[in-house]
Amino acid sequence: TEGSSIQLAEVPAQNRDQSFSKEITILFGSQTGNAKSLAVKAGKILEEKGFKAIVSVMSDFKPNNLKKIENLLVVVSTQGEGDPPDNAIAFHEFLNSRRAPKLEGLRFSVLALGDTSYEQYCQVGKEFDLRLEELGGARLYSRVDCDLDFDEPAAEWLDGVLDALSQGQREQSGQEPASTVSQEVESIFSRSNPFRAEVLENLCLNGRGSNKETRHLELSLEGSGITFLPGDSLGIYPENDPALVDLLIQEMKWDPEEIVTINKKGEVSTLKEALTAHFEITVLTKPLLKSAAELTVNEELKKLIAEDEGKLRSYLGGRDLLDLIRDYGPWSGTAQDFISILRKMPARLYSIASSLKAYPDEVHLTIGSVRYDSLGRKRNGVCSILCAERLKPGDTLPVYIQHNDQFKLAEDPSTPVIMVGPGTGIAPFRAFMQEREETGADGKSWLFFGDQHFRTDFLYQTEWQKWIEKGVLTRMDVAFSRDTDHKVYVQHRMLEHSSELFKWLEEGAAVYICGDEKNMAHDVHQTLLEIIEKEGRMSNVRAQEYLAGMQQQKRYLRDVY
Ligand code: 2AM
Repeated sequence: TEGSSIQLAEVPAQNRDQSFSKEITILFGSQTGNAKSLAVKAGKILEEKGFKAIVSVMSDFKPNNLKKIENLLVVVSTQGEGDPPDNAIAFHEFLNSRRAPKLEGLRFSVLALGDTSYEQYCQVGKEFDLRLEELGGARLYSRVDCDLDFDEPAAEWLDGVLDALSQGQREQSGQEPASTVSQEVESIFSRSNPFRAEVLENLCLNGRGSNKETRHLELSLEGSGITFLPGDSLGIYPENDPALVDLLIQEMKWDPEEIVTINKKGEVSTLKEALTAHFEITVLTKPLLKSAAELTVNEELKKLIAEDEGKLRSYLGGRDLLDLIRDYGPWSGTAQDFISILRKMPARLYSIASSLKAYPDEVHLTIGSVRYDSLGRKRNGVCSILCAERLKPGDTLPVYIQHNDQFKLAEDPSTPVIMVGPGTGIAPFRAFMQEREETGADGKSWLFFGDQHFRTDFLYQTEWQKWIEKGVLTRMDVAFSRDTDHKVYVQHRMLEHSSELFKWLEEGAAVYICGDEKNMAHDVHQTLLEIIEKEGRMSNVRAQEYLAGMQQQKRYLRDVY
């Protein structure tokens, strides 16, 4: 699991050549699991090539061991505004501190994951790369930054690393170079080979008059052999809104039936199908603008790209491909040219809201519908509005499980759990409760839930009441923010019960936070510090250490988006 370091199987003796040190340490920092799965895959491939690979999550790695390492691969993602994933925070901090050791003799390479629609693209990977060099390390292979469609660049990075490693190997032992690596080392259904799950149920959880629309989706996994644990997420490959695809095609006077090539393998589809299912058309990124500038006779687009980052970002935000096309024509590029510059449709991840023990062969999700107005046009979240408006029981969706080893119920069933999940953040806690009910876990549990209105937005209300009656859920505190004249949020409820809450922490409770990252998770973090300071009579610094200690013991876990 991500929680413990993975020592991959020893390679057979005949593959080993003692004359060169071929132990490679792969450290990953991963929030959603992509960096982790790439790290594990790199480890497997290295082992197949006769290296010894040690794969470990950064939070389990003892930084003092850094000095002993000769070959280091770092696979790390960047969150929101340039932040490291939770399980990379401590290592990132250590490496950037004065305590970091000199690393002469270290050879390293960084694979950075990110999203070009954010300004701080791959920031954390860049920082690791620079810092390892500063400390005296030598680059084994230059850093590769990957956008959301990371498969190809990640495979190329690994090829490069393998080449560099086997150069040294050949020099010392005269072996053949490693062959190129692009094959998948995954089980039958995966991110790159999703399962088509049938929709069993698709309901709206909010009452009439709500400002919100939250869908409850039940999908069938029957026949897939797919398994997961509470805390895992489901990836869905959505389709774009057909009305938006039609508008694009009309605007460009393209032929929807034109055959286009959709990937490097040379697979083809109709233009309409490509724009519907294979490519992202709702987000603009800087690399996309740069490529698009080559497809227009309009010089203004080049001027925009040359503007400062702030102006460029303000154009990108809230606009989509249709806006770009309307703003910067006349276009000289063909439909194929456009297809070639778009990002592949990224999967959307949703925290799973059910337990296989309670609902075998099913997976349930809680999805908030995303709709907003921008620049005079109504805009829709691609996946959430597909689910809200176009997905009926009997339809199918391409899905895969994204394991999240960082967000797991404690193994000891008597561990008390505190769950904070306003809005759709409630999803994994429904799975936790189902699991605890099915396994007869005897630890106490405490749920903080919040949403706008009690009457219309109390998601899964009767289920929580049932669990309270049965004693599966020990306590529940709710915060309905728009039922009173002043806002009441989950963290206000936590503060009201600070003495009891701190008692739970002292008893070894694990705290789980799920939901909005930017505002909620940040505020809840500050509130936890406040509670620990107040009730534990600690300084702010000591409270931070207390929380960092909980994080280290995997008792402070977040699934935030
Ligand atoms: P609001 O929309 O009334 O501001 C789920 O979306 C719930 O989270 C809503 O009740 C929402 O309140 C609330 N919420 C908004 N910002 C929050 C924050 N910073 N911390 C906690 N809850 C928040």
